[in-house]
Amino acid sequence: MQSLQEKASEWSGVAAGDAFAIDDGNVFEALGATTQPFVDLSTNFYTRVYEDEEEWFRQIFAGSKKEDAIRNQYEFLVQRMGGPQLFSQRRGHPALIARHRPFPVTHQAAERWLHHMQQAVDTTESIDAATKTKMMNFFKHTAYFLVAGNEMTRQGHGTSCKCKHGASKPAE
Ligand code: HEM
Repeated sequence: MQSLQEKASEWSGVAAGDAFAIDDGNVFEALGATTQPFVDLSTNFYTRVYEDEEEWFRQIFAGSKKEDAIRNQYEFLVQRMGGPQLFSQRRGHPALIARHRPFPVTHQAAERWLHHMQQAVDTTESIDAATKTKMMNFFKHTAYFLVAGNEMTRQGHGTSCKCKHGASKPAE
C-alpha cells in the first residue's frame, strides 16, 4: 500500500526532497526573523478564501472567524519554518491530519486551496522569489498529504505517520 508521503508526492508532483527544502537553512531567519511576512501571507491568503466566488469552498471555512484562521495559520507557518513555537504554545501539537478531519479535504478542495495560496504567495512582497518557490513546494505536498490523510481517516483507519509536514524545524 502506498504511504501518505508517496501519495502526497504523486498527486502534488512534488518530490519529498523539494517539499522539505524549507528545512535547508532557516526560512524564518532568511525573511528577517519577524512574523510580518507570515502575517502578510496568511492575511492575503484568507482574504481570498473568505471572498471566494466558489461558495462550496468558502463554506468549508464558515465555522471559523477570518482573524482566527489567519492567526492559526501564520503561527503554524512561523513555527514550521524555523521561528518560535507560537502555534504549539497556544494550540498544542499541529496534528494536521487530525485537525482537518472535520473538513472535506478532497482533491478539488486542495486545488482550490493551492490556487488561492499561489496567488497570495505571488502577491506578498515581503517574501523573496527563492523562498516563494520553496514555500509553494511545501504547500503543494502538504495539501495532498492532507487529502490522502482525509481519505484514510474517512475509511476508518487511524493515522500514525511520522511525517515532517507539521513537525517543528529541529534546532540547529
Ligand atoms: C485550519 C481547510 C490545507 C494548515 C484549517 C481550517 C480549515 C482548513 C477549514 C479551519 C480554519 C481555522 O479555524 O483555523 C483546509 C483545506 C485544505 C487545507 C480545505 C486543502 C488541502 C492546509 C495546508 C496546511 C494547512 C496545506 C499547511 C501547510 C492549517 C493549519 C490550521 C488549518 C495550521 C489551523 C489549525 C488549528 O489551529 O486548529 N484548514 N486546509 N491547511 N489548516 Fe488547513
